[in-house]
Amino acid sequence: KFEGLAMTPPMGWNSWNTFATNIDEDLVKQTADIMVSSGMRDAGYTYIVLDDGWMTRERDENGNLVPDPKKFPSGMKALIDYVHSKGLKFGLYNCAGTKTCAGYPGTRGYEYQDARFYASLGIDFLKYDWCNTEGINATEAYTTMSNALKTAGRPILFSLCEWGDNQPWEWGEPLGNMWRISGDIYPCFDCEFKHPENWSSWGFMKIVDMRKGIRKYSGPDHWNDFDMMEVGNEMNDTEDKSHFSIWCMVASPLIAGNDFRSMSKETLEILTNKDMIAINQDKLGIQGFRYNSDNGLETWVKPLENGDWAIAFLNRSEEDKSINFNWKEHTIKDDIFNLETSFDSAAYDIYDVWNHKKSGTTKKAFKDKVASHDIVVLRLSKK
Ligand code: DGJ
Repeated sequence: KFEGLAMTPPMGWNSWNTFATNIDEDLVKQTADIMVSSGMRDAGYTYIVLDDGWMTRERDENGNLVPDPKKFPSGMKALIDYVHSKGLKFGLYNCAGTKTCAGYPGTRGYEYQDARFYASLGIDFLKYDWCNTEGINATEAYTTMSNALKTAGRPILFSLCEWGDNQPWEWGEPLGNMWRISGDIYPCFDCEFKHPENWSSWGFMKIVDMRKGIRKYSGPDHWNDFDMMEVGNEMNDTEDKSHFSIWCMVASPLIAGNDFRSMSKETLEILTNKDMIAINQDKLGIQGFRYNSDNGLETWVKPLENGDWAIAFLNRSEEDKSINFNWKEHTIKDDIFNLETSFDSAAYDIYDVWNHKKSGTTKKAFKDKVASHDIVVLRLSKK
């Protein structure tokens, strides 16, 4: 892979969660414009990624992929130039199989040709899916495409979308900059959505629970990808805030999946909370973890640079809860990354990330209320 393209979790926007294959150049241009005017770009969101559906149903007579001229009448190159002119980066999608999930031409057997095509267009990101791959070895398929991109010569962030069945965290690091760990997200807190065709999409907390023991595989330039976000889609603002916070705590790539053209002020505020983003983008790149769980009140922690810690109280239950966290009674150990803090010996200043205010120190127990499906996120800094 191209090293160093994702030293912190990639941030951007992807078309799939809201638009599926209903994408076109106006959508991309408007999304790019809003990314700049709303402050999303300056908050760190830089990639605009077109998912499945950007091609015609067949390759051309030379075997090249063809951007759909009905959806992109000005041509893909011009569109990419436009996105670049806004100080943004551009990504496309394809699939390791014979066809994409939506039935467009897959890359199987065309890896080097497609990689050259992407480089000639000037893309910066490739998401590489896993439909129609019967009989194909996952490690080999992703290795071939990774090598093809390298050979084509343009630095392109490689995003593996294998869904986790072949444990991409075990072999993905040299090949790609991030890899999906699960099937598709669904815009709900904790549900399983069963599709009629007998597969499931997952509420964001289901994804978080799905894989155990994979934290150690995630870090700078090689991230566990918890999927594109559903912030601003079908959940309420409280749930969106929790969803975004947890994606930050687990150091997931932050790829928005909502329609920016109808984005509410509240959604924009959630997606651009700079203190929350700083926790996600922390240079140590350590995936946070669940420290404990008490009747649906979950405590999450994430070690940060300079001895800081993020600590989040997520109310996963249907009732409102009280937080009463007496720091003295807790020692937080991160066995995987070999970090530990006992709040007894070190006093920290507390900053409340969603209330945007200082909240005392760890000398006194932290007390607060947290409504059903809401979250309280604190940043602790050594005094
Ligand atoms: C499955 C992936 O997991 C989704 O994110 C999306 O890329 C669709 N395929 C597109 O068909």
